[in-house]
Amino acid sequence: MNFQSSDSITINAVKYDLQSLEALAWKKLVNGSIKKKNGFRTMCVGTTNENKDSSLRIVVNRKVDEIKKLIFFHTDNRSRKFYDLQNDNRISLLFYDARQKTQIVVKAHATLHVNTELSNEKWQATSDQARLGYMTILPPNTKSITTTLGYEERFSEVKPTEAESNLYENNFAVIACEVYDLEFLYLDYYGNRKANFYYENGALTDCFWVVP
Ligand SMILES: Cc1cc2nc3c(=O)[nH]c(=O)nc-3n(C[C@H](O)[C@H](O)[C@H](O)COP(=O)(O)O)c2cc1C
Repeated sequence: MNFQSSDSITINAVKYDLQSLEALAWKKLVNGSIKKKNGFRTMCVGTTNENKDSSLRIVVNRKVDEIKKLIFFHTDNRSRKFYDLQNDNRISLLFYDARQKTQIVVKAHATLHVNTELSNEKWQATSDQARLGYMTILPPNTKSITTTLGYEERFSEVKPTEAESNLYENNFAVIACEVYDLEFLYLDYYGNRKANFYYENGALTDCFWVVP
């Protein structure tokens, strides 16, 4: 697409026009997915249920494909967010890192992977400790009269073997979020800056500066 504005902003002494700012936004998201201490390592996920109630929760940013404009996270397919997404696959993701003075909010369409080649590949790469998250006997958020880990108590001492955890792979889901709207807000003492970017099928179709 043609970039309408040649205006630029300065971040850490580097000038960014809309084109390079879009690249920077995706670079920040990619860094979040690969650097454990990066502020964009986690994101707040918003979904909507059938009563139009919105729900928020934090998840780990597992992978970002900056070419296809995809952001991935993992979850239990018995969780409320998974049910929400089965009924309405529109999803919002919110990233904020105080150190980078940057907020990125995206809207996306989610594709749910359970028992697919992709989910199996990611399950194989998941540690025994992380697999415990998918090994609860009852679904996440089920009421319990006692405080509970959800999974067998012995696993708090001795981590499950691969064979033990593999029994729970059916609960594991990879969520691929195809971004169609990205809002980039940079906080600056001399004045905040904001630009919005819009995509169709992973291709940038529009972008412009907006009032922060
Ligand atoms: C730092 C942090 C990271 C988390 N990462 C994940 C994650 O990657 N996937 C996930 O499903 N839940 C994750 N959770 C738990 C969720 O925030 C949430 O409590 C859980 O998934 C149930 O959400 P739901 O009932 O709204 O579906 C994380 C929580 C925290 C605080």
